Amino acid sequence: MTSRIAIIGAGHVGATTAYALMLRGLFAEIVLIDTNAELAAAEAADISDAGALTRPTRVFAGSYADAASARIAVLTAGAATHGSESRLAVTARSAAIVTACVTELRAAGFDGILVVASNPVDVMARTAFRCSAMPAARVIGTGTLLDSLRLRQEIATRLHVAPASVDAMVLGEHGDSEVAILSSIRVGGQPIAQFESGHAPLDLPHIAEQVRCAAYDIMAGKGYTSFGVATAAVRICEAIARDEHVVLPVSSLLTGQFGLEDLYLSLPCLVGAGGIERTMIPELNHWEQTAFQASAAAVQAAIDGIVP
Ligand code: 2OP
Repeated sequence: MTSRIAIIGAGHVGATTAYALMLRGLFAEIVLIDTNAELAAAEAADISDAGALTRPTRVFAGSYADAASARIAVLTAGAATHGSESRLAVTARSAAIVTACVTELRAAGFDGILVVASNPVDVMARTAFRCSAMPAARVIGTGTLLDSLRLRQEIATRLHVAPASVDAMVLGEHGDSEVAILSSIRVGGQPIAQFESGHAPLDLPHIAEQVRCAAYDIMAGKGYTSFGVATAAVRICEAIARDEHVVLPVSSLLTGQFGLEDLYLSLPCLVGAGGIERTMIPELNHWEQTAFQASAAAVQAAIDGIVP
């Protein structure tokens, strides 16, 4: 077990992240920080009530000073989207919140790894990176990890296999322009077409569209999403805490991949104790490359719309 993790923002995503982290037993201490101190205290107390049946974890509400010694800070604070509003529509409002949080974290002396879950996550990870003055390896956006998990789950359900046996990724923006990499899906190590042999092939473009719209569908029913993204954030924290060197599709600073730089977007990344150890360049077909470039352009346009 490794020391302390800080969660910035005690809303649905922050509280769920804290709860999932506690169930996972990865950290001895989880500190919840929110401008609404009463909410943070209430969530910490509620989560602590589960403590008798989990591994010993101290969950408490605190201030940025309490985050100074944290190994990881998960940033969940941001502007909420409503209805069919796109994630990029709240860029300016989220950027102001993320800038304020990261400024406080930095002033408190935080020197760990920052996992950004606030939407639009690719723009917010870049905002946090620039504001934090930390090395890019230590600022990670949850990116399309969630979309990739959704894609794997959808395919797995239809093929009656475990999601862990499905190798499939969504890359680019975590949002409307995301790119499902359908050309290289493998099931049990075989190309999906080979696995399906003898059966009707899945309508992969339709599944990809369902994945792209998944958050809107959930929001139509409950107004927000929380469990999926919190689980993705926890998976990244686990990879860091356990120094896993695992490849995850997360948002990292591009430094020339596909000719792009100064942009956070999801590509397969090697994640370990130091954060992003490598941002990889996957093989994409022509359509996927074009779609990835369009996704980059959509994120760039959102960045251009806010004061740097
Ligand atoms: C999600 O995809 C809203 O980004 C959040 O669940």
